[in-house]
Amino acid sequence: MAKMAAYMVESGEDVFRKMFKFYKRRDPPPDLRGVVDFSSEPPADKVAPAHLDAAAVSDEEAARVGLRPVRDWRAFSLQGFPGFIFISNPFLRGSQPFWVRQCLKTYPQKPNVCNLDLHMSACDTQDIWAKSAPVLRSPSSGRNQPKTLLEKLHWVTLGYHYNWDTKTYSADNHTPFPADLHSLSARVASACGFPGFRSEAAILNYYRPDSSLGIHVDESELDHTRPLLSFSFGQSAIFLLGGTRRQDPPTAMLVHSGDVMVMSGQSRLLYHAVPRILPTPRGHGALLEDLRPASPQQAAAMLEPVSEEDWMACSVYIQKSRLNMTVRQVLGAGQSFPVAPPSSVTRTDKSEIGGYHDEDPGKRKRSDSDSANET
Ligand code: OGA
Ligand code: MN
Repeated sequence: MAKMAAYMVESGEDVFRKMFKFYKRRDPPPDLRGVVDFSSEPPADKVAPAHLDAAAVSDEEAARVGLRPVRDWRAFSLQGFPGFIFISNPFLRGSQPFWVRQCLKTYPQKPNVCNLDLHMSACDTQDIWAKSAPVLRSPSSGRNQPKTLLEKLHWVTLGYHYNWDTKTYSADNHTPFPADLHSLSARVASACGFPGFRSEAAILNYYRPDSSLGIHVDESELDHTRPLLSFSFGQSAIFLLGGTRRQDPPTAMLVHSGDVMVMSGQSRLLYHAVPRILPTPRGHGALLEDLRPASPQQAAAMLEPVSEEDWMACSVYIQKSRLNMTVRQVLGAGQSFPVAPPSSVTRTDKSEIGGYHDEDPGKRKRSDSDSANET
């Protein structure tokens, strides 16, 4: 692999695209030995402990959003990627189900926007959860049944709703950002040295086993000095983090349920992608232990408990799926959107190539249909 990367760097080829295809390939499946796994012993030559500001978040504030005390977090930096922080599942045992339930039941609700809104009536997308959960809970779930709406959900946007066509946010396309997700984000940001983080937009990604997320840079936010926070739940994934150019060879890492990634500083505007979803490795405690709701007494102390009924449907869903929430601050302090939409929607090379949930990483747009991100 190193040889191939070296060759492609030399020849100026799109090495990121090659790596994306390498990890996406199913037959034969790719060799995963070069993939950094922060949950087991990460390679000491590439990974170092990251310093966090443990005093910035009290234990109680952390617990209120389901996080362990910051001093107990296993946080890492990656050599060659200053500003990138990987926090290996900082969630308290039993608290992930709350966030899974928010992603599946709460956040897809109006006024938030989702891919289904693009080709279905408001009435049909009214209550995705109520229409899907009973089917997921039924014993025949998954066997030759038509897909539920929840299984057709690919993305939800919160706050300033991302416009996939213009690749912009705008003042007039905004709904209130969920307070609970802001609290979670602000605490993680504070611990990582970014006090005063404002969660203004989020993209939630819903991945089925064959889904992928195309190569892109998140550059639509107007203030790139603020970090981008990413929270993952459910099945694992390979995440590729590259450079500022497509010729830069990306580093592959495993992302498991509960993991948090922070892209800031020099790593805020790097190419990245998710070529592959992987079943949670066996023997990996995360799904089995952490993804069981805490006892009501324990849960009540921090987050609203997830009912047994809700969890029955959520757990069926995440046995096959991955959820990812990326939270962004769009505007800097005192900044506002330009009055006229930027006339130069002349996009840089980067955003032209950036794509979402595409089979072909060279395609530009994220799909809003089933077919484009599944084989
Ligand atoms: C994104 C993103 C990565 C992931 O939504 O911009 O890069 O891990 N998500 O799903
Ligand atoms: Mn991204």
